[in-house]
Amino acid sequence: MATFQGGKTPQPSPSTAPGLSSGGPAQDPPKPKTRHQPKKVTAPWVRGRAVEADAQPLVMVTAYDYPQARTADAAGVDLVLVGDSLAMVVLGHDDTLSLTVDEMLHHVKAVRRGLKRALLIADMPYGSFHLGERQAVENAIRFVKEGGAEAVKIEGARPEVVAALTAAEIPVMAHLGLTPQSLHQFGGFKVQGRGDDAAESLLQAARAMQEAGAFSLVLECIPSDLAQQVSAELRIPTIGIGAGVGCHGQVLVYHDLLGLEDRLAPRFVRRYAHQGSDARQAIEAFADDVRHRRFPSRDESYADPSRSNRPVVETLEKIYG
Ligand code: KIV
Repeated sequence: MATFQGGKTPQPSPSTAPGLSSGGPAQDPPKPKTRHQPKKVTAPWVRGRAVEADAQPLVMVTAYDYPQARTADAAGVDLVLVGDSLAMVVLGHDDTLSLTVDEMLHHVKAVRRGLKRALLIADMPYGSFHLGERQAVENAIRFVKEGGAEAVKIEGARPEVVAALTAAEIPVMAHLGLTPQSLHQFGGFKVQGRGDDAAESLLQAARAMQEAGAFSLVLECIPSDLAQQVSAELRIPTIGIGAGVGCHGQVLVYHDLLGLEDRLAPRFVRRYAHQGSDARQAIEAFADDVRHRRFPSRDESYADPSRSNRPVVETLEKIYG
């Protein structure tokens, strides 16, 4: 198992934290209650998480291909988002703006094949819904029909788009705060919602998205107090990323969570593994074995039984070394 090096050290989770009583066996602290864990996560079930008392926080991760989707689903996450972060963490762009609907669709289809339980959400790329409701509905329908998405996510305060998608039977996850598609409007990747005016307009936008029919709301990079206030007021669940612990759920980008992304991480990223450096070390070891003819071994190679003396030689070698 990977060790936690550098960065922030994860706190022990309740199930692994040592008991406080002296001498006796470790005591698990009470687990958050939930009335109902569905076999298959649906948008209406997610929507209900904000109003159910003592509901367990929702868990969402991004995924971009079949093995990542299988891994996330097997780990029991509730929601899998094919985020437009795809452009940065998988395709190597500096921001998300250039991602196309066809590129996103390719990855949504792969993730679809890897999921059984988690709800699949497709992130609508920049420019795929900005021309108005008709364009938004046309593109979202492609994600549902061709990609197998069960919901879409849109960035920014666009209640008219949420209403049009909802009328077209497509559940919408809203996304407010630091919306990376607004990079140039914001003048960089900056914390949003600071100061009374900004906080008030974010609160109003959140209300508008709920009233337009969004089934959930991602809050990215805003002060924790504001996220808590929005979460307390809304009837739909909030899912935070860099928005503190007061949201109804949390999301991390797959590559950040697993340490596949080794560039500078924002403060809200907690790395639970170091798969990027593990992979580099493994490939270095492979290269070294190849260069020193330690790979492949005889056991990793095939013999030809039709060459008569070979089995005899192999048997003798097994006996006498
Ligand atoms: O694109 C993405 O990965 C996202 C999440 C960070 C919410 O929008």
